[in-house]
Amino acid sequence: MACVETSSSRPYHLVVFGASGFTGQFVVEEVARTVSEGPKGNLKWAVAGRSRQKLEKVLEQAAGALSKPELRTEVDIIVADVGEPDSLAAMCKQAVIVLNCVGPYRFYGEPVVKACVENGAHHIDLCGEPQFLEGMQLNYDSQAAEKGVYIVGSCGFDSIPADMGVLYTRDQFKGIIISTCSKKENLFFTKTLILIYIYMKSTFGGCIHDGTWQSAVYGFADSQKLQSLRRKFNHKPLPVVGSKLKRRGALFYSNEIQQYTVPFMGSDPSVVKRTQRFVVEEHQATPVQYGAYAGVGGIGNIIKMMFAGIMFWFLVKFSFGRNLLIKYPEFFSFGLFSKAGPTRKQMEGSSFQFAFYGEGYTEEQDPSQGKPNGKIRTLVQGPECGYVATPIAMVQAALTILNESTALPKKGGVYTPGAVFAKTTLIDRLNKHGIQFSQKNTQSGLR
Ligand SMILES: NC(=O)c1ccc[n+]([C@@H]2O[C@H](COP(=O)([O-])OP(=O)(O)OC[C@H]3O[C@@H](n4cnc5c(N)ncnc54)[C@H](OP(=O)(O)O)[C@@H]3O)[C@@H](O)[C@H]2O)c1
Repeated sequence: MACVETSSSRPYHLVVFGASGFTGQFVVEEVARTVSEGPKGNLKWAVAGRSRQKLEKVLEQAAGALSKPELRTEVDIIVADVGEPDSLAAMCKQAVIVLNCVGPYRFYGEPVVKACVENGAHHIDLCGEPQFLEGMQLNYDSQAAEKGVYIVGSCGFDSIPADMGVLYTRDQFKGIIISTCSKKENLFFTKTLILIYIYMKSTFGGCIHDGTWQSAVYGFADSQKLQSLRRKFNHKPLPVVGSKLKRRGALFYSNEIQQYTVPFMGSDPSVVKRTQRFVVEEHQATPVQYGAYAGVGGIGNIIKMMFAGIMFWFLVKFSFGRNLLIKYPEFFSFGLFSKAGPTRKQMEGSSFQFAFYGEGYTEEQDPSQGKPNGKIRTLVQGPECGYVATPIAMVQAALTILNESTALPKKGGVYTPGAVFAKTTLIDRLNKHGIQFSQKNTQSGLR
């Protein structure tokens, strides 16, 4: 079993690396808010980054935001720089878990993962870049297993609501699905579920910080490399039981949510698929088929989106175009991303919602003989996605590792949230902290 205890040489349960970043600051506040949820009601933690001065300011600001007299006496500071491997090793030796908020991960992430694996620290990140996440799995999974450490990517808004939401929907599908399926020599029980629809709605009074914009710009610029990386895994296609999920078009009007909808471009589909592969390989279960779409509103928004999309695809291919995109995020994203990020007031007025529309088979229905005859709809909803929901998800993921080590996979490795947390109470923890998972019995549209 993986080590989750502190010791005299490894004094911190958590080290927040990149604490001085826009997101890091909010992660620090969330850790400070939840110290009583640590092992035995206590959490020993430190902040880390490349500037001691900035880290002192972060602790001061967090104390102010939480109306605490101060944090400096209970929280230590570690100076570490991605460009200095010895400083990373020293940081990782002192931490049970490193919460890594330094991105874009494609530029800064790998040395931190490497240092964690080599020095026995678990690693949780907020990455929404499939190329980095899948690359870490390819390169570090077996070393992480040997060392007994969990490297868990995408533990923020990307992709905990989607990944855990799919597992939640599958598990709520009780009484409808169980059928037996014979495949070669193996006879196993299947839970056949096809998620036909995912909807994301965001009441968004604000914007997203530039750090995420940069990750997106460089991620899209490099998207062809993802295909060659995937070929190296040599994966077989995931098995399909029952009807095959029909892919919807690039733009369509959704009757379910009564607005125009496009395929969701973030990391969720990649993360969910990796979890479903884990479900097949480790638990011999039938995977959920999954498609992710985002509601974009009416015709006015579509015109804006098409204009922004064409400019983005054109500019992202060239280095001068990428420089322009990075320099003027507000202009090129129609105000969705900005260098200043949202204000606290804007965050308070924002929320997100995912709806999962699933279809599956009742006991009487043989999946090979007809269409799905059971339906389910679930919701995952929560506060502002980037800097409220994301820190909650990241910190609760870390607390789950610390408090529920017996419910984690037996061996270490590079995992998705769904793979590592499927048997834990992470969903209950998120529910308590305002990211709510619920089942809806009606098929009525969401407003
Ligand atoms: N999954 C999600 O839903 C989600 C949500 C929010 C953010 N994110 C991701 O989180 C990442 C950070 O975003 P952000 O907006 O917080 O960015 P940011 O404000 O630019 O913060 C970047 C952080 O990285 C640190 N850093 C940069 N180079 C470093 C180095 N060589 N050594 C040590 N630290 C270094 C910076 O330190 P200095 O302060 O010293 O410059 C800063 O603390 C991005 O990848 C973003 O996509 C994901």
